[in-house]
Amino acid sequence: MRKLNSYFNIRFSDGKLTFIDQRKLPFSEEYITTGDYKVIAEAIKNLAIRGAPAIGVAAAYGLALSVQQDDDPGKFEDAFYTLINTRPTAVNLSYALKRVKKACENSTSIYQSAIAEAGKIFEEDVIMCDKMAENGIVIFGDSPKTVLTHCNTGKLAVAGEGTAFAVIKFAFSKGLVNMVYADETRPLLQGSRLTAFELSKNNIPFKIINDSSAAWVMKNKKVDLVITGADRIASNGDSANKIGTYSLAILCKHHNIPFYIAAPSSTIDINTGTGKQIIIEERDSSEITSVSGKGVTLSEYEVFNPAFDVTPAQLISGIITESGLFTFPYNFK
Ligand code: MRU
Repeated sequence: MRKLNSYFNIRFSDGKLTFIDQRKLPFSEEYITTGDYKVIAEAIKNLAIRGAPAIGVAAAYGLALSVQQDDDPGKFEDAFYTLINTRPTAVNLSYALKRVKKACENSTSIYQSAIAEAGKIFEEDVIMCDKMAENGIVIFGDSPKTVLTHCNTGKLAVAGEGTAFAVIKFAFSKGLVNMVYADETRPLLQGSRLTAFELSKNNIPFKIINDSSAAWVMKNKKVDLVITGADRIASNGDSANKIGTYSLAILCKHHNIPFYIAAPSSTIDINTGTGKQIIIEERDSSEITSVSGKGVTLSEYEVFNPAFDVTPAQLISGIITESGLFTFPYNFK
C-alpha cells in the first residue's frame, strides 16, 4: 500500500543533515546524509535540494557544518561564499546565510551559534508555512475550487508544509478544492515529478498538464484560481518564480481568473525595488536538449534556458504571506 505523507525534505540530527534526493523522485525515495557543507552546496546546485526556502535552510545548516570540527573563521568565510554562489535568484539563500553569519559575530563558538540560528530559521519556516495556509483560505470563498499550480511548492520546497501547496492542502482539508491541475514545469519537471508526488501523497485529486496546455485548459475546463510560490519578491510586488509563471499570470488576466502567490517574508527582498533588479539564473543547455539524460535534439544547437521569470505586480491578484493577504499596489518595507 502507498505510504501517505511518509516523506520528509530536510532534517538535522546528530550533527548531520539528511535530505531527500529530489532528482530521484517520484521513482525512488532516497535520502542523503552528510556533515560536509560541500556536499550540501553541490546538492543545491544540482537541484537534489531545491525550492526557495529549502535551499536557505539547507545552506544555513551547511554553513554551520563547515566549522563543526574546528570552529575556524577562515573555513566559515569560504563556506559562506561557496554556498551563497550556488544559485542566484531565490533570496531565501542569502537571507539565511547572512542571518547565520550575523548570529556568529562575537560568538565564543561559531558552530554552536550557527547551528542554533539554522535551527531557528528551520522552525520559523515551519510556522510561516502554517500561517500562509491559514491566511490563504479566504481566496477559496465558500465553494470548492479547481486550482492550477506551477512548479513545486510543497514540503519538498521548504522546511514546513509548503507555500502555495500548503494553502491548497489546507483548503482541501476544508472541502474547498475539487482538483488541481499541476503544470509539468519544463524543463526539469518539478510539477510532474514533485508536485504530482506530493498531491498523490496527500490524496488530493490532480491531473498533470503540459505547460503549453494551460491556456486551453483555462478556456475549456474550469480553472477557478491559479496559485504559485515565488523565489524573490521585490518591494513593489514584482515576483520571480519558476519559468512559465509569467505566462500563467498573463493567461489569467485574459481569462479573468485570479492569480495568487504564496511566499514567506524570507522571500521578500526589500532591498530590491522592482523585478528588473532580480538576477535570473540561466541553467545549462543540456536541460533543454535532453530529457532524463536522453537527448531530444542535437546538443550543439543553441539554447536559452532561464530558470525563472518575473511576474509584474499588477498581474498578481494577491500575495499571501505569514502576515496576511496583500493586494496591489504592493509596498513591502
Ligand atoms: O528551480 P527550483 O525548483 O528551485 O524552483 C523553485 C520554484 O520556482 C518554486 O516555485 C519556488 O521556490 C517557490 S515555492 C517554495
